[in-house]
Parts: sequence; C-alpha cells; structure tokens
Amino acid sequence: MTDRKKLIIAIDGPSGAGKSTASRLLAERLGYLNIDTGAMYRSVALAAHRAGIDPENHTALEELCDRIDIRLEVDPRGGLRVMLDGEDVSMAIRTPEISRLTPLVAAVPAVRRAMVTLQRRLGRDGGVVLEGRDIGTVVFPDADLKVFLHASARERGRRRWLELKEKGVEVDLEQTVREVVERDRVDMEREEAPLVRPDGAVDIDSGMLDVDQVVRLLLDEVDRTLRKRRDTGAARKG
Ligand code: DC
Repeated sequence: MTDRKKLIIAIDGPSGAGKSTASRLLAERLGYLNIDTGAMYRSVALAAHRAGIDPENHTALEELCDRIDIRLEVDPRGGLRVMLDGEDVSMAIRTPEISRLTPLVAAVPAVRRAMVTLQRRLGRDGGVVLEGRDIGTVVFPDADLKVFLHASARERGRRRWLELKEKGVEVDLEQTVREVVERDRVDMEREEAPLVRPDGAVDIDSGMLDVDQVVRLLLDEVDRTLRKRRDTGAARKG
C-alpha cells in the first residue's frame, strides 16, 4: 500500500499518557519513522548544559541550535537512537538534571523555531509518526491524522509512582501526582506553543487501556484516515 507510507501522524498530549511507547509501536507497525520531538528538546538542553549556556541566554541558545546536529535513528535493538553531533545520547538526555533543564530551554522561541524547522523537514514527505506537545497545533496543523492522547493526572501520577517503585525508588504517591499536575500547568500555561488539544484531533484516554489497546485504536484511526482519503479521492500520488 503506497499511500500508507505517506501519512503524517501527529500525536500530542501531556507527559505520562504513554505517547512515547504508543508512537514507537505504531511507527514500527506501519514501517514509519518515529520522531520523538521531546528527545530533540532534551538534546538541545544537554548540549546547552555541556556548553555551560544559561537557559536565559537566548542568543547563545540560538547560536547553539545553528551549530549542533541532532538526528533520530532506528536502533537495530529496537526503539530510537538519539544522536547529538554523532554521539549516541539516548541515555544522557534522560537524567533528572536534563529533565529539569529541558522545559526551560524548550520555552525559548529561537529554540522552538529551530526544532520546528527540523521537524517539518524530517516529516514533510510523510511516513512519520511525530510525537510531542505542539505537533498538531504548530508543526503540522494539517497532519493527515491528529491524536490527543491523555489520561487523568492521578492515573499518570500513579503510573510514574509505580515505575519509580519498580526501580526501587520510594516516593510518595500524592507528591508524584502533584508533580504531574505542576508539569501540566507549566506545559499548558507557557506562552510558546502551549499544550492544547489540536482542532480536529481524535481523543484517546489511555487511563483504562494498556499500550496494546492504545496501539490498536491508533491503527483503527489510521485505517479510517486512509479510507476517508480514498473515498474523497484525495490520495496523494504514492
Ligand atoms: O516528552 P518529553 O518528556 O521527552 O519532553 C521533554 C520536554 O520537552 C518537556 O518539558 C516538554 C518539552 N516538549 C515541548 O516543549 N514540545 C514538544 N513538542 C515536545 C516536548
């Protein structure tokens, strides 16, 4: 199916709703490229941290974005490999320190401009699942399929708490839920590309679903999108 190769799929939603895993599995099922835009912002934060750039220094961040090379590669062992200037930084971008720094860097307009440009370049030919906070609103408002994947803050907090517990990190459940609520607030209230449900997005509440069920719903939506495209005769040449 050639046209199946061509869709641009935008998946947005708050942190902890299961976007990353669902997007990766969906991309694998479709043979698409999975573009984890959060990993791109994390890479900028890591590069800024290493270069000793203060997140308040917008000019230095803009120059940094001009000179760094961020690539997303398929890891033969599964998943996605994030490359910063030729170095595999997939792990280094997930430390608590970089997680704290990333929202500050991601709020800088010049950084967003640079990342949005890169994301559009990577996605323009289709065959991509882009995942983030502003894909269906800013990066590809005309995406073939837009999804808003969410779950209640309590459920997302509970999952995060379980995840930490499994790693042997004992934290307070209520505190974890409060942190999720606070992250949502920052994501939704920021001036640059706030997290909102994109117009025309399909809503999926992952609260009561496991990841396989979410992927199944996403595949149903892909089929529906392809059928609609065929019915309206709007299929682009494959
Ligand atoms: O999804 P994540 O936790 O890896 O995202 C890391 C940070 O980047 C988080 O603070 C939200 C931000 N982000 C963003 O501002 N825009 C995106 N398109 C994706 C992530």
